[in-house]
Amino acid sequence: MHITLDINGDSHRLELDTRTTLLDALRLHLGLTGTKKGCDHGQCGACTVLMDGRRVNACLTLACMAQGRSVTTIEGMSGNGNGLSALQRAFLEHDGFQCGYCTPGQICSATGMLEELREGWPSHASASLDGPFPLSHAEIAERMSGNLCRCAAYSNIVDAIRAAAGDADQQEDAA
Ligand code: FES
Ligand code: FES
Repeated sequence: MHITLDINGDSHRLELDTRTTLLDALRLHLGLTGTKKGCDHGQCGACTVLMDGRRVNACLTLACMAQGRSVTTIEGMSGNGNGLSALQRAFLEHDGFQCGYCTPGQICSATGMLEELREGWPSHASASLDGPFPLSHAEIAERMSGNLCRCAAYSNIVDAIRAAAGDADQQEDAA
């Protein structure tokens, strides 16, 4: 089938099997290999991208489901060459990675997560259903629990997210 995908602000017309996942469309058909394939079963979060600003697992999303939606991958996080995003800079400054395989998914997921937090979405770790919610270690750990890191860089990932969100108390709470 013919589909048109809006990826990082660019329109791409592709001829794809109806069963092609968004992850394979990105990596195999568009050469956007920043989005990683870890488990291909929705369990690791390495393939996380944003669809209309919401985080999704690209391995569980058919490419045809993304038609008419705006998809943002890690390649689109840097403002199309205008510099790194605040989260990307924070991951560098806080050593939020080791091998880096999970990192694109972590950054895409954290971008979506911070927006969910701003919109007042509660999590399983929230004390109540009404926001605003503090950007505590527990909140971030719960909200980012869909993104695994085999290198276990978790504490630095949390520090990076809190720094990018402008949380001045991050060091104190993470200790
Ligand atoms: S590759 Fe999609 S969740 Fe693991
Ligand atoms: S940095 Fe290696 S898997 Fe996360």
